[in-house]
Amino acid sequence: MMIIDKERCINCGECIRECYGHYPFWRDGVVMAPEEPCLDCGHCLAVCPMEAVSLTGYDLSEVKPFDKMTMIPHSDHLLAALQYKRSIRRYKKKAVEQNILKQVLEAARYSPTAGNFQTMRFVILCEEKMALVKQAAEILYTAKQNNRPETALFRLELLETIYQASLKNDDKLFHGAPVVIVVIDKETTAANCANAYIAAARMELMAQSLGLGSCYVGLFLRAGHLAPSLYAPFALADDERVCLALAVGYPASFYRRTVPRKPLTVTWR
Ligand SMILES: Cc1cc2nc3c(=O)[nH]c(=O)nc-3n(C[C@H](O)[C@H](O)[C@H](O)COP(=O)(O)O)c2cc1C
Repeated sequence: MMIIDKERCINCGECIRECYGHYPFWRDGVVMAPEEPCLDCGHCLAVCPMEAVSLTGYDLSEVKPFDKMTMIPHSDHLLAALQYKRSIRRYKKKAVEQNILKQVLEAARYSPTAGNFQTMRFVILCEEKMALVKQAAEILYTAKQNNRPETALFRLELLETIYQASLKNDDKLFHGAPVVIVVIDKETTAANCANAYIAAARMELMAQSLGLGSCYVGLFLRAGHLAPSLYAPFALADDERVCLALAVGYPASFYRRTVPRKPLTVTWR
């Protein structure tokens, strides 16, 4: 909740102009903080020239002052990184250090969420990964054999390979990645897992900058859709759903160049 330090506030109104939700307001030329909880988005705090605004319930020591060099990435570098980014399907047999993973997750913590509800949670699969691979592989292969429409996009050969490998404790579902980040979100806060996909896109970029590779594994979600019992280890609350699974690890592939893409379809009006 927004708090204004009246000793510091100069009543410039920047927080009022910035607030999307119309929470702070004028009273006789004085800026007033809302009496009800706001979105906690922090825009008021970020624009205040006097450091007069704070938010209750947050650690304000992590707020950093603007630094152009580090906070506005060079567009050429950013675009090149995005063009070079590939879905990694070969990983080194090397664990990912927890402090490195924490940096990847930090990118998700700062991603936008609908209504700023910040309702996502993250499960990091390491040791328990193979048990889930085995279950998912069997679910998918059986469904394909039974012509379930959920598996129509995937060739029998692929699902059979994943299944046969899983019987030998070989993970071809997550491509042998040492870590899988599973993102869980509340059903009500964002349509179509939008929060989770935005967070994942940012985690992927952060992972890349740390020398890691990553790959979305939608197949895991197909398996969960076919057999929700797959998600038992996540102890989902009634209003939660598994939104995505992101395989992460040190890449064993090295790409010497970027790849071509179809031209954009854009309409300028
Ligand atoms: C929503 C989504 C689901 C995906 N599911 C899988 C998957 O189950 N397994 C896999 O190996 N790759 C998966 N991918 C990766 C795509 O196949 C990959 O992004 C695409 O082929 C382009 O390759 P690139 O990412 O290397 O540019 C998925 C990608 C997206 C966006």
